[in-house]
Amino acid sequence: MPSRDGPPDAFGSPYRLLSTAVTPRPIGWISSRSEAGVDNLAPYSFFNVVAVDPPVVMFAPVGSGELKDTPRNVRETEQFVVNTVTRDLVEEMNATSATLGPSESEFDAVGIERAASVAVDPPRVAAAKVAFECELYDWIEVGGSVLILGEVVHAHVDESVLTDGLVDIENLDTVGRLSGSQYASTAERFSIDRPS
Ligand SMILES: Cc1cc2nc3c(=O)[nH]c(=O)nc-3n(C[C@H](O)[C@H](O)[C@H](O)COP(=O)(O)O)c2cc1C
Repeated sequence: MPSRDGPPDAFGSPYRLLSTAVTPRPIGWISSRSEAGVDNLAPYSFFNVVAVDPPVVMFAPVGSGELKDTPRNVRETEQFVVNTVTRDLVEEMNATSATLGPSESEFDAVGIERAASVAVDPPRVAAAKVAFECELYDWIEVGGSVLILGEVVHAHVDESVLTDGLVDIENLDTVGRLSGSQYASTAERFSIDRPS
């Protein structure tokens, strides 16, 4: 089959190439609190698990210029919460991606109910089925972007997604981000056995 080769910017832009081919991406819906006490909430799909011992997750605000509110808050307070995005929350999640000033809270602007966290100051999204309270583990600058690593110090899991005390994927319709404004539901599933 013929293929086309080239540097990453030969395919529109590195962002276009990477964000379309690396799909579906999980979405970390990150709540943070500014030093001034404003609760911020924004989705980040450059998001994943990095380690399990210690349990560490990462997300990456991209772009050059001024820091977005989330990384600025995390740099100031060294805390954040990752809320999972399920199909029922996707409209609210999307609404929180609007660019608001640092003195405005997406929780209030979008009408999202907060729930108090246990181990960190920023609140979690009350309706999120799973939320991870994180302490900043590391902050790595990559060009104009930042790779933010957070150690999960406390987890909140809604009873409705548990089976025998474990999170059950059958009960958790997490959403993945595709390209641009396209998303994938994870409700359609299949299994294959791993080789031994
Ligand atoms: C589903 C989704 C995923 C996103 N993922 C990222 C991301 O990984 N990195 C990023 O810098 N911006 C991402 N954005 C854009 C930010 O959410 C947007 O810039 C937001 O205004 C940042 O808010 P903040 O300044 O309150 O942190 C995403 C937007 C959406 C809708």
